[in-house]
Amino acid sequence: MYVIAGVTGNTGRVAAETLLARGEKVRVVVRDPAKGQAFADKGAEVAVADLSDAAALTNAFRGAKGAYVLVPPNFVVTDFAAYQDGISDAIAQAVAAAKVPHVVLLSSVGADVPAGTGPIAGLYRAEAKLSNIPGTVATFIRAGYFVENLGGSLGALAHGILPTFFAADFPVTMIATQDIGELAATLLIEGASQTSAVQLGGTATGGTTYEDVADAIGRITGKRPQVVVNPVSAMSDALQGFGVPKTMADLYQEMTTAMLNGTITHQPGLRTIPMKTSVETVLRGLLSA
Ligand SMILES: NC(=O)c1ccc[n+]([C@@H]2O[C@H](COP(=O)([O-])OP(=O)(O)OC[C@H]3O[C@@H](n4cnc5c(N)ncnc54)[C@H](OP(=O)(O)O)[C@@H]3O)[C@@H](O)[C@H]2O)c1
Repeated sequence: MYVIAGVTGNTGRVAAETLLARGEKVRVVVRDPAKGQAFADKGAEVAVADLSDAAALTNAFRGAKGAYVLVPPNFVVTDFAAYQDGISDAIAQAVAAAKVPHVVLLSSVGADVPAGTGPIAGLYRAEAKLSNIPGTVATFIRAGYFVENLGGSLGALAHGILPTFFAADFPVTMIATQDIGELAATLLIEGASQTSAVQLGGTATGGTTYEDVADAIGRITGKRPQVVVNPVSAMSDALQGFGVPKTMADLYQEMTTAMLNGTITHQPGLRTIPMKTSVETVLRGLLSA
């Protein structure tokens, strides 16, 4: 039986549904029992636990062959790094206490770097904790930039523009969350004999630029937006203007800067899985929502 966290979100939902469709036993972890009903209807067990509650998570993990976990976003807390550490501490404690043999963590490209990468540094620390549990092996999905993040820029299409803090011709290693969820399910079924990381995202040409995104939007809507590049130094203030707490906004600016200067980049030599779902496919969904 596999335990899946984050099933009301992008990747956990796909992981759980993929496993159920393949005939595997699944236990979903939800905070609100009502949100587990759709999975119970498909034959899954439902455990109620907050990812920051080690005792409840231990119960949720008991008897699992493998577990899929993530450190969810949180746009309310004022100290995001402390929030991330609270979640990864609880997950690591619960994995150890429940003796889960295999844990798959949704991590990120750049999680090989200890600091200076914004929120990704919290995933570096989460990987470290899960790497040191006797009797447990971990697989880290070092995912690229979610294509779904583009949803935050689509509001400006009404004005004919696609805003970004990346240079218009900067190749961003993007990945659809559908691909991540499917990979998580596959990795759980495969199992693992040693702790390792898998890189996920990118294309044969190395990435997707915002000009590529504008082209795709043009093909879908018939109206190609103009890419408008904002300086990355203005990112924190802009996000705070949308209500994002300052510490989080600063971390996003740090992450984007680290992507632009090459601190966050794919590592040569790691197993790398290219994207299956195209940027255009995800954009079609976002634009029709
Ligand atoms: N965005 C990117 O470009 C990117 C790139 C690489 C890696 N990542 C990683 O991917 C993560 C997001 O993954 P995602 O898109 O699959 O998530 P998501 O769609 O944002 O969903 C988050 C899930 O976690 C659950 N959750 C939130 N807080 C919880 C808590 N305290 N206890 C239990 N469950 C909780 C939510 O359930 P509720 O229904 O209860 O809210 C929801 O199911 C990021 O946090 C980051 O670590 C992101």
